Amino acid sequence: MEIHLASMENITCWAFRSLMQGVTDSYTGMISMGYLLERNKAWKEVDFFPINGQRQWLQVLTSKEKECADFLKRVNEKLSTSQTLALGGKASSNEKLGEEPEKDNCHGIQLNCSCPSPMIIKIGQGSALIKRPLKVASLVKELLKQDKYKVSVKTRLGLNSFEVRERRIFKLLEELEKIKNPNFTEVVVHFKHGKENSDTLYDYSTLKEICDYNIPIVLNGGINSYRDYNNIIKTIPKRKNIKGLMIGREVLKNPDCFVEVSNMLNCTLFKNRSFEEINAEFKKLCEEHMPREIYLERIKNSCVWNK
Ligand SMILES: Cc1cc2nc3c(=O)[nH]c(=O)nc-3n(C[C@H](O)[C@H](O)[C@H](O)COP(=O)(O)O)c2cc1C
Repeated sequence: MEIHLASMENITCWAFRSLMQGVTDSYTGMISMGYLLERNKAWKEVDFFPINGQRQWLQVLTSKEKECADFLKRVNEKLSTSQTLALGGKASSNEKLGEEPEKDNCHGIQLNCSCPSPMIIKIGQGSALIKRPLKVASLVKELLKQDKYKVSVKTRLGLNSFEVRERRIFKLLEELEKIKNPNFTEVVVHFKHGKENSDTLYDYSTLKEICDYNIPIVLNGGINSYRDYNNIIKTIPKRKNIKGLMIGREVLKNPDCFVEVSNMLNCTLFKNRSFEEINAEFKKLCEEHMPREIYLERIKNSCVWNK
């Protein structure tokens, strides 16, 4: 079972991601694709140094196919080792080293269709995309015009309660289901709409229907333990499409929240650490690859264990 550490802007840097035991998949915070194309500085956030046992994902914001195409070229120029990135279905003979080949550990690209920020919605990105299934499918297809990176989508149930009533997510899943490329690996569903605040309770009542689509699903929202996960899935008769779960805010309280989940679901033997041990390990990881100051500040302010 896949166990995902959620994308958290200005928090999930390499050192933070590396700290987690039992995580199979982790993400950078959301990064604007336009920003990655325009500013070299933005690549500091793309910190895919190796992490044993974790698949690392780059989460991007965009609503433009042209940006996706340009981005694929740029990512190759930046990260490529001697591996070939087949662009547009044709193997390119790029045997050149990229600018930062030590970061060539990106497993996949995730399209963010979930960010509820008004600024992002205003420019048609994040959760503004949920009601545009054809656009999302077209962006995904553009990102799939290479054979090195997997592609996934993170979505909410809708932009607002109206879109939930209008069953927008089902139209989106219907369109995504048509993409038969095996490199399109999953849809992460954050079980809230974009206007619900962090205290609103999660509503998993649509999960049974979501599982009927032929798409692997990762569950996200309010899952803090193995028990929470079990309570959600126990009422679902057809679980074959549930590929995993994703945890976000609980990690800020306890980075070892994955330990029990992993030991129960994946038969691992991880052990819980004290906050002192976690802090010491985090410090060491930061020395190895120092995150930007904003990450250190955010982590200090949001994480009870990082004092
Ligand atoms: C501080 C913070 C930053 C976040 N940044 C992002 C982000 O960059 N991209 C994203 O898809 N979700 C982001 N999220 C949402 C989380 O990935 C996750 O979907 C949400 O917290 C629900 O999961 P949880 O109930 O386990 O926390 C953020 C959440 C928090 C608390």
